[in-house]
Amino acid sequence: MTETNHIYPIFDRMLTRADKEELLGQRGAMIWFTGLSGSGKSTIAIALERELHQRGILCRILDGDNIRSGINNNLGFTEADRIENIRRIAEVSKLFVDTGIVTIAAFISPSNDIRRMAADIIGQEDFLEVYVSTPLEECERRDVKGLYAKARRGEIKNFTGISAPFEAPAHPALTLDTSVLTLEESVNKLLALILPRIGK
Ligand code: ADX
Repeated sequence: MTETNHIYPIFDRMLTRADKEELLGQRGAMIWFTGLSGSGKSTIAIALERELHQRGILCRILDGDNIRSGINNNLGFTEADRIENIRRIAEVSKLFVDTGIVTIAAFISPSNDIRRMAADIIGQEDFLEVYVSTPLEECERRDVKGLYAKARRGEIKNFTGISAPFEAPAHPALTLDTSVLTLEESVNKLLALILPRIGK
């Protein structure tokens, strides 16, 4: 260490989350959607991001499209792989939250243990759990990707809701059933929950 470093130690330090949040004029937060495949997690996440963006809030969505095809393209759907999937997602999310960004994750994250792990990594105080509770029958009726039919035929193993478990969260910050609520209603409920917390 040089003399200068001792005199001006502040030059050695990384800027903090508070510095980033001040720059952005918002507070970081984690919006964690959980629910069955086809329940509407990604659709709600995308609509929410647009609404927040319009209000000048910087967001980042993480979902299967940008995670399972990239950083997690070596993982499948065994219990161990799902844990590793969510562990990496939580670590990446933490980086975004610590940059002051409103981070929105849309993954099945099928068990209380998995979601607790995510909350522990990210920090309980930043973690808002949103349960997209659309019933299995409705998700299967929609079958947007044709995966439920394949799972019923036994062509996909360990399919959540059919041949692998899904545990509903006990105390989510919000529950949204897209068989009852319109997309606009879901987003409005989310905005009411989120906006006061992120200071805009
Ligand atoms: S998680 O359980 O590890 O959180 P994740 O949300 O990343 O799952 O991926 C779920 C998506 O992967 C589903 O929406 C579906 O499109 C696809 N998928 C492929 N195989 C399975 C499976 N066995 N179980 C659940 N989803 C699957």
